[in-house]
Amino acid sequence: MAVKNTTIFSLLFSLAFLGLTCVHLTNALSSNYYDKTCPNVEATITSVVKKAMLNDRTVPAALLRMHFHDCFIRGCDGSVLLNSTKKNQAEKDGPPNISLHAFYVIDNAKKALEALCPKTVSCADILALAARDAVTLSGGPNWNVPKGRKDGRVSKATDTRQLPGPTFNISQLQQSFAQRGLGTEDLVALSGGHTLGFAHCSSFQNRIHNFSPKKSVDPTLQSSFAASLKNVCPAKNTPKNAGANLDSTPTTFDNRYYKLLLQGKSIFSSDQALATMANTKALVTKYASSKKEFEKAFVKSMIKMSSINGGGQEVRHDCRVVN
Ligand SMILES: *[C@@H]1O[C@H](CO)[C@@H](O)[C@H](O)[C@H]1NC(C)=O
Ligand SMILES: *[C@@H]1O[C@H](CO)[C@@H](O)[C@H](O)[C@H]1NC(C)=O
Ligand SMILES: *[C@@H]1O[C@H](CO)[C@@H](O)[C@H](O)[C@H]1NC(C)=O
Repeated sequence: MAVKNTTIFSLLFSLAFLGLTCVHLTNALSSNYYDKTCPNVEATITSVVKKAMLNDRTVPAALLRMHFHDCFIRGCDGSVLLNSTKKNQAEKDGPPNISLHAFYVIDNAKKALEALCPKTVSCADILALAARDAVTLSGGPNWNVPKGRKDGRVSKATDTRQLPGPTFNISQLQQSFAQRGLGTEDLVALSGGHTLGFAHCSSFQNRIHNFSPKKSVDPTLQSSFAASLKNVCPAKNTPKNAGANLDSTPTTFDNRYYKLLLQGKSIFSSDQALATMANTKALVTKYASSKKEFEKAFVKSMIKMSSINGGGQEVRHDCRVVN
């Protein structure tokens, strides 16, 4: 009994201690974080994103993916923005780097903000706000982004292996999200980010060539859709930049991704995986039939994901290099 009590006591003590440590390390986020120090932060970023979108329709998808990537590795600390150095290969130059671009948009926003309120707005916050703007300006929902993230000093190419991959099955996806404190609802809602963007052939060739010893094509793919994918991505001599849009309206933030998924017209195995379990399929069906329900869930999960603490300590002066 005494032993038991001691154990419980030390457990409680450890938990309390852990709680205190977390409070100390956490950069508490709030929606009015820059109200006094940089009141025009949001309008400044929005105008930079808007301008970039006019020149390149792929910018919103790129910003959303960049923010996701940032938060999934080391928390949302702007680590994805750091350049490689002589001694260190950074995240952006890691294996799945092919889909990351539009870093210049963050640079432009940072420059504008340094002129307005120097050394105040973190790069991690700029990216979180730019990702929100990317969604809103593409016809998606708008929401208040909690701010106050700090920038980290570490970025490692090898860490990109921890990202959920396009060939993941449902249990691998759930595990990857759970490691970041994200649940099944977050997984299904955040996958809806695939309403924007484009995928290179290499990320879905597993479904259209040599799928298994018996079948060359993933049988869950609708047949004419599979044929069209094989057409743009032949097994041999695939053109370098060939690929497919993630849904049929790749620059509009809508719920078409879920509708197509239910028709066997999703691009990645990791998309199709959402239809393989009853509870995830029920969510896919719900979002396919209601854009409003999808938006509600997406906003909730975005706020959760973008609050993953990176434990950064500084506000970078240049988003590509540590201070
Ligand atoms: C970061 O890398 C980009 C692309 O390689 C380069 O154009 C830029 O000058 C670099 N910036 C810094 C601050 O090193
Ligand atoms: C992607 O990363 C590899 C190293 O893993 C690097 O050699 C290559 O230059 C990078 N590609 C781009 C477009 O940055
Ligand atoms: C997912 O893939 C892993 C690794 O290949 C495997 O162990 C697991 O059984 C698979 N899960 C499902 C639900 O297919």
